[in-house]
Amino acid sequence: MAYKSLRDFIAKLEKAGELVRVTEPVSTVLEMTEIQRRLLATGGPAVLFENVVRADGEPAGMPCLVNLFGTVKRVAMGVTLDGVERTTAGELREVGELLAFLRAPEPPRGIKDAMEMLPLAKTVMSMRPGVVKKAPVQEIVLRGDDIDLTKLPIQTCWPGEPAPLITWPLVVTKGPSDDREDNYNLGIYRMQVLGKNRTIMRWLAHRGGAQHHQRWKKAGKREPLPACAVIGADPGTILAAVTPVPDTLSEYQFAGLMRGAKLDLVAAKTVPLMVPAQAEIVLEGHVLLDEYADEGPYGDHTGYYNSVERFPVFEISAITMR
Ligand SMILES: Cc1cc2nc3c(=O)[nH]c(=O)nc-3n(C[C@H](O)[C@H](O)[C@H](O)COP(=O)(O)O)c2cc1C
Repeated sequence: MAYKSLRDFIAKLEKAGELVRVTEPVSTVLEMTEIQRRLLATGGPAVLFENVVRADGEPAGMPCLVNLFGTVKRVAMGVTLDGVERTTAGELREVGELLAFLRAPEPPRGIKDAMEMLPLAKTVMSMRPGVVKKAPVQEIVLRGDDIDLTKLPIQTCWPGEPAPLITWPLVVTKGPSDDREDNYNLGIYRMQVLGKNRTIMRWLAHRGGAQHHQRWKKAGKREPLPACAVIGADPGTILAAVTPVPDTLSEYQFAGLMRGAKLDLVAAKTVPLMVPAQAEIVLEGHVLLDEYADEGPYGDHTGYYNSVERFPVFEISAITMR
């Protein structure tokens, strides 16, 4: 079964005993991370915090999901491919083989070559995303003064960090040309909150989004780079965003493969980009070309805090959500 949305996947995990709901009040400041850290260490379930307390002590009014991909089993459960459910790492080997195939220096040259392509390679070719006009993710549209990141349950994970951090945004960008490497890119780049409508975009220099930003500047564009940060999507799309897909293939198309069904996209409200129609929240905006800010220090998965580095500023023009 292909998961249409994160909600679908949550329901499936709950049925399988892989997710628990917490109704006790839990703070976004340090508490959620500490609970998750202990669960991660012991192979525990995903958790949906239903009574989230924001940094200002007020109820967040929306749930928060943590430890989603805390075990290999749950990662495998999130991948649907050709409709067959997988539950072990070994069963994901085909995805690795496909990535190696896509990265091979020689593309298929003719019918015979194409016939010999891996079955999954043929499937991915047929997974161009669809387009819808009306989408759940745009049920609520906030603009202007209604844009306020402090109202969202954004975590502070470790002591001494400078500001709340959006930990798992799927950052969507497109480059300046029609070339294949300027096609849609999705990557997870953590975002330090700077204010009600501004964050830092911490993409390392070699990442797809950073490359689009560099080429956008080089092309002499005056307006900043359109970008969207998608928060909460179906598991196949999330996993596609963290997969090092070669830049000759759009992650949206690769997401179709991981989901076992093509992805439906909708036009963003304030920027010329397409976003997943069934996502939970989208932050629409632009990554500025000439404004950079000091990012960090933040606790990293290495077990250490990163040193402070400068990255460009992301300015939000709309928040849309279900
Ligand atoms: C939770 C999480 C946080 C991440 N944070 C960052 C980050 O802050 N900066 C970064 O460059 N990559 C980060 N990554 C890694 C990239 O998202 C990953 O390498 C992805 O494949 C990059 O896609 P791209 O090659 O299309 O840019 C993170 C990954 C995960 C799962």
